[in-house]
Amino acid sequence: MITFEGAAKIYPDGTVAVDELDLTVETGRTTVFVGPSGSGKTTSLRMINRMVEPTRGTIRVDGVDIREQDPARLRRSIGYVIQQAGLFPHRTIVDNIATVPLLLGWRRAKAKARAIELMELVGLEPSQAKRYPHQLSGGQQQRVGVARALAADPPVLLMDEPFSAVDPVVRAGLQEELLRLQRELRKTIVFVTHDIDEAVRLGDRIAVFRPGGRLAQYDTPERLLAEPVDDFVESFVGYDRGVRRLSFFPASGLSLRQDVVFDTEDRVERARDAVASGREPWALVVNEGRVPLGWVSARQLAESPAGITLGTLELAPYGHIFNVATDSLRAALDAAVLSPAGRAVGVDPDGAVLGVVSQDDLGTAIWSVSE
Ligand SMILES: Nc1ncnc2c1ncn2[C@@H]1O[C@H](COP(=O)(O)OP(=O)(O)OP(=O)(O)O)[C@@H](O)[C@H]1O
Ligand SMILES: [Mg+2]
Repeated sequence: MITFEGAAKIYPDGTVAVDELDLTVETGRTTVFVGPSGSGKTTSLRMINRMVEPTRGTIRVDGVDIREQDPARLRRSIGYVIQQAGLFPHRTIVDNIATVPLLLGWRRAKAKARAIELMELVGLEPSQAKRYPHQLSGGQQQRVGVARALAADPPVLLMDEPFSAVDPVVRAGLQEELLRLQRELRKTIVFVTHDIDEAVRLGDRIAVFRPGGRLAQYDTPERLLAEPVDDFVESFVGYDRGVRRLSFFPASGLSLRQDVVFDTEDRVERARDAVASGREPWALVVNEGRVPLGWVSARQLAESPAGITLGTLELAPYGHIFNVATDSLRAALDAAVLSPAGRAVGVDPDGAVLGVVSQDDLGTAIWSVSE
């Protein structure tokens, strides 16, 4: 547990970077500091490992006042990852990762073995161990940064915008990896970002900072999106917070229609009758393995000659799908919005269609969670 008690930082030029911060960071959880530029996130983070000394107040790690600890030793006991990884350019990847273990006096062979093990843990090929940082992509360098911070197995990890210099796809991959690592390692992570989506994705708790270095709200992601305390937080979390909040509700509760799902051998008139009686404008066509193939509209069915099979028709692309067991309502909504039929196709983990969610049913589910 890390506690800030009335912690403040006023720089010599009079800038109030952090103003009376009271906050408890829970052990084994990910706490995200988010807020606009200059709101004191980095300063607050660096006060934890004494890279910045607080002007007032007290910070404790597991009950011990950090002022009672030797700064160099404290820093080695806390992992630190920054934007663009901050790797040593003239050291190989394996040497970069082994930095802290070597400082701690580990034998070379042991430090190296540990570094290789960590490369695998963060999803790097051990064959890259002898490369230099500039020979890796931005995303790979960030992975090295994470591996280096984890090298001495510190209980606490401080991460300052570690993923903000990479493109959105790589960034999403790194976020996914961090979530996986954290499920395994259960570190106490303090993660700084500008990006509310990243905060919501990674954080067990989110601290929103406002200009002037003051804490605006400290809450779970779900509560932050449901009940921002004031206009500042509301505008910071975004006016689409309602849609974001749907990511906390599982799609598994949605009712799935089977009556408008047909395979290619089905006859056109059977599909026509079904969509007419179900008052549905679209039917979904699947193959024998129930893999989706595409949509056919009620109008096209009406105009098609009787007696032919659905396999002979031209189908509209089925668009995006969602996994019923693991995805959220947000994913289902997204699938519906991106589908040419405006309907979401729910599949099982093998990609086989379980059913189709109508707009009405999706609307009802969304309405029930906003109650
Ligand atoms: N060494 C320093 N001397 C004077 N002022 C500083 C110093 N370091 C930071 N500041 C100021 O303190 C305030 C908080 O800075 P900090 O770096 O903590 O913000 P931040 O929330 O991390 O911003 P960003 O999102 O841009 O990284 C800013 O106004 C900044 O200009
Ligand atoms: Mg910063």
